[in-house]
Amino acid sequence: MKFLIQSIALFSLLFAYSANARWIPTQGMTWNYVLGGTVNVSKEKAQIVDIDFENASKIKELHNVGKKVICYFSGGTLESFRKDKDDYYKVSGLVKNAYSQWSSEIWLDFRKEGIKPLIKNRMKIAKNNKCDALEVDNLGAYIHDEVKSWSNPLTKADTIIFARWLGQTAHEYDLSIGLKNVVGIIDEVGSYFDFAINESCVVYNECYHYKNFIKKGKCVFGVTYGSVSSMKSALCKNLNGLGMTMIIKPDYDLHQDVTFFNGKSTCGSSFDDGYESKSSNEGTIVRNVTKKTTTTKKTTTTKKTTTTKKTTTTKRTTTTKRTSTKKTSTKRTTTTKRTSTKKTSTRRTTTTRRTSTRRTSTRKTSTRKTSTRRTSTRRTSTKRTSTKRTSTRRTTTKKKSTRVVVVYVTKK
Ligand SMILES: *[C@@H]1O[C@H](CO)[C@@H](O)[C@H](O)[C@H]1NC(C)=O
Ligand SMILES: *[C@@H]1O[C@H](CO)[C@@H](O)[C@H](O)[C@H]1NC(C)=O
Ligand SMILES: *[C@@H]1O[C@H](CO)[C@@H](O)[C@H](O)[C@H]1NC(C)=O
Ligand SMILES: *[C@@H]1O[C@H](CO)[C@@H](O)[C@H](O)[C@H]1NC(C)=O
Repeated sequence: MKFLIQSIALFSLLFAYSANARWIPTQGMTWNYVLGGTVNVSKEKAQIVDIDFENASKIKELHNVGKKVICYFSGGTLESFRKDKDDYYKVSGLVKNAYSQWSSEIWLDFRKEGIKPLIKNRMKIAKNNKCDALEVDNLGAYIHDEVKSWSNPLTKADTIIFARWLGQTAHEYDLSIGLKNVVGIIDEVGSYFDFAINESCVVYNECYHYKNFIKKGKCVFGVTYGSVSSMKSALCKNLNGLGMTMIIKPDYDLHQDVTFFNGKSTCGSSFDDGYESKSSNEGTIVRNVTKKTTTTKKTTTTKKTTTTKKTTTTKRTTTTKRTSTKKTSTKRTTTTKRTSTKKTSTRRTTTTRRTSTRRTSTRKTSTRKTSTRRTSTRRTSTKRTSTKRTSTRRTTTKKKSTRVVVVYVTKK
């Protein structure tokens, strides 16, 4: 008779510490928005430049002269010149109707799960191209009539879900991300975004919608189309005490020419830029320290009984008892450190609200850029050379793994 007890206890402990870090802009940094034409790096004055996410060579040139780069792509529409265009069409129901004011773009139903790997892929490209931050455009689809005309239109709630996912996902790639326009969801999604970009809030006296976001120390980069002289009173009225960074562009083409709004010189010495913190000219590094502790305990017990008779016949009874306890406890601590110097001065709140005519088509048209802009530039954009997509998302600074065999007994 053989009696065998085999007992194995496996105990393993795994500690994984990962320190994620991403750059975020600080209030008061200057920016330029150049989606049209090219950037002559040697004459660029802004500290941050926003260009297309695929322009790796330009991003590199900008970094070489100490600039930070925000990388643009549209998330709410499909642009006709994108290299991954065909993949969008492969997702059933994702690509919808044309965006009539913007002839090279088509609305997307971003509720489709199939969009997620496509966006992640773009984020990987952005990361490989060394983008510091992302600007994902056209999330405000739900307010457009062309989207409202769908049988099952996108809603504000859908937009909140998608925007939060974008914010979270960008952070997983250690990219900071700005909320572009769609200010109607800023309270719900603001904490998922590092900064915001807005077109034309000065024209509608609505820049104050960003007040709470700015109070958290976050940057809002505004663009006003026209000239400082023609927009002077609107600029001074809207921006005094608000803490928003404004540029003035001559037209919607978004070429490199830019004027940085300077409140004190334009509006007078009593103008208060309202910045919450301007500790740095280079932005801040936000560390996202995640500590993960995984404890795995596994116990396996095998009991074997073998009876051998005098004859050559062997009868075997095998009982296998298996106790398997798997315990996984995950503890996650996320610490975000942020230096913010609060200003005690009273901030002026603009409460002027335009009443009705606001949401007319004139306004929507005026805030969009003309359609020739992007088509011409993007078609000439440099070819991405390889499909090297190394995603180094996490830096594991400490990894410890212990495996112990506790008991092993053989009894006859
Ligand atoms: C992208 O880079 C190419 C080559 O430097 C340039 O011709 C093109 O205009 C750039 N586009 C933008 C938006 O800077
Ligand atoms: C870029 O700007 C510099 C400085 O203004 C100028 O000298 C140079 O000619 C420009 N380069 C191009 C290609 O326009
Ligand atoms: C920290 O990183 C995790 C995963 O890497 C991400 O889900 C989370 O949003 C990040 N938090 C912040 C505040 O960036
Ligand atoms: C810019 O922000 C304002 C509110 O501050 C908002 O009303 C406006 O719609 C935004 N611009 C665009 C183009 O969405």
